[in-house]
Amino acid sequence: MKFFIDTAGLAEIKEAAGYGFLDGVTTNPTLLAREKVRDADEHIRQICALTPGPVSAEVTALDASGMAEEGRRLAALAPNVVIKLPLTMPGLAACRILRAAGIAVNATLVFSAVQALLAAKSGAAYVSPFVGRLDENGTDGMRLVEEILGIYRNYGYNTEVIVASIRHPQHVLRAALAGAHICTIPFAVLSKLASHPLTDKGLETFLADWKKNAG
Ligand code: G3P
Repeated sequence: MKFFIDTAGLAEIKEAAGYGFLDGVTTNPTLLAREKVRDADEHIRQICALTPGPVSAEVTALDASGMAEEGRRLAALAPNVVIKLPLTMPGLAACRILRAAGIAVNATLVFSAVQALLAAKSGAAYVSPFVGRLDENGTDGMRLVEEILGIYRNYGYNTEVIVASIRHPQHVLRAALAGAHICTIPFAVLSKLASHPLTDKGLETFLADWKKNAG
């Protein structure tokens, strides 16, 4: 399973790359605003220079031609930019336009399996179901991921599923068990993946025993 990092923070992206867990990056307007980014294009360029993997940059236009125009402009920033489009009818129309121009699309804000089916039919390279937001709304977000993967298998779609809106390591575990292609993980969750209290306790004991032996 590929690990993307869900952030626009350059320091977090560099640190994830340093650990060897950076197959790509996903951003959105909220994440860019959190970094108080003034020149969003330059910021996206800087992120793209930190990884050869796909970097999702989201449009803010709402109509199909506006989204397609913004998408073309963003795609020209770096060869690894992927255009994030909201799963709306205009977003799907823009997806077809960008796909015809050879530009990869990540269909975002996906909350139902039928939305994901439309994304695949429109030629999206990636689809992003938001599992955490569904959980918070009283639905099992990971069940949606399983449904999408089942539908894509049924019809041989090669759209890759990016499990997004991840809140904790269990989301990563269930995504891996379901066979999702990618998890886009916030840095705080990425940091938790390697930690286990018994690992810490075991390490403490090993070091204490070794010290006793040396003394
Ligand atoms: O890539 C965006 C998606 O992961 C959103 O996450 O935390 O805003 O629900 P969140």
